[in-house]
Amino acid sequence: MSPFHYDGDTLCCEAVALPDVARRFGTPCYVYSQAALTDAFSEFRQALAGRDALVCYAAKANSNLAILQLFAGLGSGFDIVSGGELSRVIAAGGDTSRVVFSGVGKSETEIRRALDAGILCFNIESSRELDRIEVAARELGRRAPIALRVNPDVDPKTHPYISTGLRTNKFGVPFDEALALYRRAARCAPLRVIGVGCHIGSQLLDPQPLAQAAARLLELVGLLEREGIRLEHIDLGGGIGIRYRDESAPTLAEFVAPILHLLRDRPERLLFEPGRRLVGNAGALLTRIEYLKHGVERSFAIVDAAMNDLMRPALYDAWHGIVPVALRDIPARIYEVVGPVCESGDFLGSGRSLAVSEGELLAILSAGAYGMAMSSNYNTRPRAAEVLIDGGTMHLIRRRENIEELYAAEFLVR
Ligand code: LLP
Repeated sequence: MSPFHYDGDTLCCEAVALPDVARRFGTPCYVYSQAALTDAFSEFRQALAGRDALVCYAAKANSNLAILQLFAGLGSGFDIVSGGELSRVIAAGGDTSRVVFSGVGKSETEIRRALDAGILCFNIESSRELDRIEVAARELGRRAPIALRVNPDVDPKTHPYISTGLRTNKFGVPFDEALALYRRAARCAPLRVIGVGCHIGSQLLDPQPLAQAAARLLELVGLLEREGIRLEHIDLGGGIGIRYRDESAPTLAEFVAPILHLLRDRPERLLFEPGRRLVGNAGALLTRIEYLKHGVERSFAIVDAAMNDLMRPALYDAWHGIVPVALRDIPARIYEVVGPVCESGDFLGSGRSLAVSEGELLAILSAGAYGMAMSSNYNTRPRAAEVLIDGGTMHLIRRRENIEELYAAEFLVR
């Protein structure tokens, strides 16, 4: 159930009316429901009950410290892809022994920091990265825990920009090269081979491709076992989709059932790296209509949020529900919902029927994942505030930026 619901004619998040959030913190503003975040995490717990498993929240989906803190408190691990995300996890009180480090371009500095922090595992994406980690571990006198992120070459059937498990993608070690690389890693004293993983793409709605990928990993685990290389975990990555519009997203239990069945006799711990599924539907972007502009062919609702605040529509043509915060008994019109940024791609929704007037608030739904995290300062726009709602309480978890700090790191030439 969505945490965003109407109480009478006013849209609320949990027990807080969204106009109160706008009054107190201004717009645009991201609003998240703590109950929805907690429920999404519990859903994983329940779906994986009875199985040794660890959920590593993919911090990239929404890396606000308070969100990381919340998941850390629920016992989550983290999937990180940069030294910056590692710092955030540490600052939020996350347990570094539950951190997996993914990504194709880990720098030497990032590798050293992660070794120092005692992370659970490096998800290695190439043989050159393996070399680099080996050297760093040797120099630091540590053993680096590693897993290969294997590219299983399955089609995740999602948007091409967020497909990662095809052989044409930059991600992972090709399946056919994995065995040789494992042999090499197993002979390397500074490396401790502990796992295998994959991540085939994002916003997956069909469980089959991930089950196929799991089957390929299982094949590899069997080959490794025959060579005496025993793993501690199998990491299925993230990617589990959510409902944005009218997609029929499987329940989590349905999604993981084929994987759990396939791996039922394996003693290895299962890891998952969900991002969107944990935060996507727990958040909305609250924005105010600045102008209604009636053009010759189209009408525009020009709002104070823009592509810099929520990039998904411009970048992936993604669809987000857009609803009025106050239900009003006036005629609806079809609008292009656009921001103030000087680009025609700056739209948040197209062809939306809305019964609204200037000055009113809209909520852009399902914006908890890859919303604030991908925002920018394009057009020198301060980034939005973020508010976490817990029952009737509003917690400001990120204040709105001010203009001066946007150029505080720049210098005039003297
Ligand atoms: N693990 C790895 C290695 C990843 O690369 C990702 C996402 C995840 C886990 C989490 O995937 P999720 O469960 O959130 O689907 N900006 C795009 C999504 C990019 C996903 C990148 N990798 C969007 O807004 O749809």
